[in-house]
Amino acid sequence: MHPLQCVLQVQRSLGWGPLASVSWLSLRMCRAHSSLSSTTCPSPERQENGAPKDFSSRLAAGPTFQHFLKSASAPQEKLSSEVEDPPPYLTMDELLGRQRKVYLETYGCQMNVNDTEIAWSILQKSGYLRTSNLQEADVILLVTCSIREKAEQTIWNRLHQLKALKTRRPRSRVPLRIGILGCMAERLKEEILNREKMVDVLAGPDAYRDLPRLLAIAESGQQAANVLLSLDETYADVMPVQTSPSATSAFVSIMRGCDNMCSYCIVPFTRGRERSRPVASILEEVKKLSEQVLQLIHERDNICKQIHLPAQSGSSRVLEAMRRGYSREAYVELVHHIRESIPGVSLSSDFIAGFCGETEEDHVQTVSLLREVQYNMGFLFAYSMRQKTRAYHRLKDDVPEEVKLRRLEELITVFREEATKANQISVGCTQLVLVEGLSKRSATDLCGRNDGNLKVIFPDAEMEDVNNPGLRVRAQPGDYVLVKITSASSQTLRGHVLCRTTLKDSSENC
Ligand code: 5AD
Repeated sequence: MHPLQCVLQVQRSLGWGPLASVSWLSLRMCRAHSSLSSTTCPSPERQENGAPKDFSSRLAAGPTFQHFLKSASAPQEKLSSEVEDPPPYLTMDELLGRQRKVYLETYGCQMNVNDTEIAWSILQKSGYLRTSNLQEADVILLVTCSIREKAEQTIWNRLHQLKALKTRRPRSRVPLRIGILGCMAERLKEEILNREKMVDVLAGPDAYRDLPRLLAIAESGQQAANVLLSLDETYADVMPVQTSPSATSAFVSIMRGCDNMCSYCIVPFTRGRERSRPVASILEEVKKLSEQVLQLIHERDNICKQIHLPAQSGSSRVLEAMRRGYSREAYVELVHHIRESIPGVSLSSDFIAGFCGETEEDHVQTVSLLREVQYNMGFLFAYSMRQKTRAYHRLKDDVPEEVKLRRLEELITVFREEATKANQISVGCTQLVLVEGLSKRSATDLCGRNDGNLKVIFPDAEMEDVNNPGLRVRAQPGDYVLVKITSASSQTLRGHVLCRTTLKDSSENC
């Protein structure tokens, strides 16, 4: 009898009431916790010469009924730093990907996009490589959707195509393994294995940690499945690895499963009970994404080094009344972090003068924040109450109009003083400028932006092109030119153009 069927039948004949309804686990994964594994997992059986026995005999000596009970009830709170012990019937080496190439295909919802990133993160750590070329793949994994009948039909059709790929595979290559992940694996369970003998691995939405083990079993030519649903699996410690390097957005998943039980919907049955990811792990992931953005701005010459960080006020008291979610101290700390991450970064901000309840002392705090940060650009407004807002319903617009305007004037004056100082640093430097077109104020001047997104004005004159020595050119919108900066105000820099160049050729000489 097939080992997988054997386990299924044991479950059925023992009549595991509620357990059977939530767990359909072919071969349990040994708990990652090393203290547990030393007591519950016998070490791999060895032949007299010390070599591990073949897979079948190790499997026979493998887990007991108790293992299944333990795995079904034990909470899954592994940390990625924990070292996994191999289950008794597999060696450490068999658990590793050994450079085999995985092709992942995602169907359905945004959760599946995120699940693909989680599954890939787990496999990558296990030593698998990724390929976007189906022909190159040693393992094909479909992250599936069951939401409507048509979604499943699409996957059955795809499986038929993949069957051909599998049978045509030359014997010189390692056999192709195919896995069904996600909701369809959960819903149909063994039906998939029975209907499609070419499917090697089934993993439900809560079983992705088990993928290395399932694939290791599949390597030996046996089908392997884990469709156990969990009450607490959120993959909190698994940092999703973005599957498309060119992606312009990323999903941060905050919960899994659903308890709503809408009368038409399969999701509670395929994704299991609703559970939230711990806030700390969500924050860590968002922080990592923000760090990646800062890193990119720092590294890439084609991204200008400017960040808009609207503060609105320099007073923690007012920030709280505004419900901004940060204090002055946290804001200043963020400014320092950004400046360390991107040296020379240009910062801009929005400020509101005269918000409800703003005192003179609060206003002084805003003035001092403007001085402390020394923004390169600023957008400053007098507060005007807007209908429907929380402030409209709960707060009093109690700063008199003339006080608002006086405070606004003070903020503008201080901002200008500081921005002029900040921009003065550029005088005498040669800067790379992206030409935008004619200056609004003068038909004989051109206007462009430097790497800090600050306006640079310079006379429209002939110049040399660094890539065509001897050729005299006039700058066109979209060109990069080097401009020697000769003066600076709070809003703009002025200078004269030296030559036309390219992003690649240029490096700022300041
Ligand atoms: N009054 C004054 N300024 C406002 N802003 C938004 N709402 C108001 C308001 N009711 C400003 C904030 C925001 C910018 C776009 O407009 O500074 O960042």
